[in-house]
Amino acid sequence: MKKIILILILFLSASWAQNLEINPDTGLIIDPDSPLVEANCLACHGSNLITNMHASRKAWLAAIRWMQDSEGLWEIEPEDEEKILNYLEKYYGEKYDTRRRIPLAILLQNKTH
Ligand code: HEC
Repeated sequence: MKKIILILILFLSASWAQNLEINPDTGLIIDPDSPLVEANCLACHGSNLITNMHASRKAWLAAIRWMQDSEGLWEIEPEDEEKILNYLEKYYGEKYDTRRRIPLAILLQNKTH
């Protein structure tokens, strides 16, 4: 029985992790469009700025426009920009899509008083 539970836990955590692979050279999640992102986004700074952002698509676009306006980021073909935004939204999107914390009942379960 314990073995079954252990296997189940391993299986669940593996599927939660979605088997996302990170490019060890750049620190970005590997995907068909990651080379495009790496080519356009890592010339001036490391990927940590990107991986720490967790922004909505709108905020990603604003960040790109800001860098284009004041930091020397070049114009990106609309087609490529679309792909870059899709990538950023998918892997480095908003962490929480709700302002609600988890239900109080669950939050308080572990408290002993
Ligand atoms: C031409 C240079 C350049 C390129 C290319 C570039 N950036 Fe930046 N980026 C900057 C500079 C400069 C900053 C400000 C760094 C700092 O605050 O020290 C920055 C900051 C950022 C930040 C942090 C924003 C914040 O509010 O803290 C993110 C996220 C980011 N860049 C993402 C990207 C993405 C995504 C791309 C590709 C589309 C990209 N960058 C390409 C120059 C660039």
